[in-house]
Amino acid sequence: MQLERIVLFVVWFLCLRSDTYGVNGRRIISKEEDMELEKQLKLINKPPVKSIQTAHGHVVDCIDIEKQLAFDHPLLKDHKIQRRPSFRQGTTKKVESGGHLLSSTPPVIGLEDIDACPLGTVPIRRATKEDLIAAKSLSTNFHTQSATTPGTDYAILQMQKNDVRSYQEIEAEINVYNPRVKEGETFAYISVRGGPDEDINLVSTGWMVSPSRYGDTSSHFFTLWTRDAFKTTGCYNTLCPGFVQIDPKFYPGSALPNASVPSGPDQFAMPASLSQDEKNNWWLTITGTRLGYFPAELFSTLKNPAETVVWGGAAISSLDGVSPPMGSGIFPSFEPNISCDFTNMWYRSASGKHNGPHKPFYDIIIDNPACYRLKYYGYLDDKAKFALQFGGPGGNCGP
Ligand SMILES: *[C@@H]1O[C@H](CO)[C@@H](O)[C@H](O)[C@H]1NC(C)=O
Ligand SMILES: *[C@@H]1O[C@H](CO)[C@@H](O)[C@H](O)[C@H]1NC(C)=O
Repeated sequence: MQLERIVLFVVWFLCLRSDTYGVNGRRIISKEEDMELEKQLKLINKPPVKSIQTAHGHVVDCIDIEKQLAFDHPLLKDHKIQRRPSFRQGTTKKVESGGHLLSSTPPVIGLEDIDACPLGTVPIRRATKEDLIAAKSLSTNFHTQSATTPGTDYAILQMQKNDVRSYQEIEAEINVYNPRVKEGETFAYISVRGGPDEDINLVSTGWMVSPSRYGDTSSHFFTLWTRDAFKTTGCYNTLCPGFVQIDPKFYPGSALPNASVPSGPDQFAMPASLSQDEKNNWWLTITGTRLGYFPAELFSTLKNPAETVVWGGAAISSLDGVSPPMGSGIFPSFEPNISCDFTNMWYRSASGKHNGPHKPFYDIIIDNPACYRLKYYGYLDDKAKFALQFGGPGGNCGP
């Protein structure tokens, strides 16, 4: 009797799991596909020096820094790992906190101190079959379109190259929320881009909620890159060779346990930046920590300064056309602590000048104002500096 119940429970649980995958766009796979996935996982997941089971359900492996997946990339065969960026003195700014919109604490990201990876190793979120299936079946394409992909909506501020300006750094303090996403995906991000849409080079970072990619409803710190509009290269986090991890604690794909709630007592924001060093590598810095970099060799157009920088949000609807909330889920209002904001928005131009977005050098793209909006305040005050608010409730937003 007891055994029967256990067996029944297991069967029920397995059915439930495959159901869940079905609903989230994950399919049930054949034996051949399963073996193929096993093979891929063997290539992606390097032998760990130590493994850590996180409180969020996924496993983090500490991998020899010289043997990480990035170096499987054919373009990185002769790459010499850089433990720190080669910036000219004084070219980077430190992102600060505070202001009218936000007086926030950085969220917990990555491993706790006691779990930090041993010297000479770096934390890598271990890839699972589900990750690979989701990566195959979900499009990444939306990041490359100007603003016209069906089912994808943007609320962004972007600056494009002009006669006097291209970009080597973008930063912002990104307010972290955890909007309820049942299906689809939602993003708060900064991004650098180069080249034409059909061959775009791109690096993005920020937070996202995507039950189908992560198997949970948490907000996750993410990175994303490509050199050819995702035709043959690029991926989220460390699911493919590309990003070189340096820091022993913070890692792409980690869950963000701390999120703001509208009018809540605690507000969280993560200062983030992407900056190109003297060797044209793109460094990723989060809450003052240099996580690692995307080597220049990976790119064609992003070997040069970026042509476009972007701050804002995106949302992808489910197959039945229901769009998830963006930001905090509440439209921008000047009130602090209610809608999601970016403060301390800066760029550095190739000539070394730091500035925030000024008229008329930026565009605001809101392709579905019934569902999502963005309000840019320019230089708001001495703490928030250049700031915007964005987001909205989603729903039936149409094509
Ligand atoms: C942030 O999350 C961590 C881990 O769950 C928790 O221990 C900590 O109390 C949270 N911080 C705040 C200020 O809520
Ligand atoms: C916004 O949140 C911050 C941090 O929790 C708090 O110090 C501030 O008083 C809040 N502002 C308002 C207007 O609620």
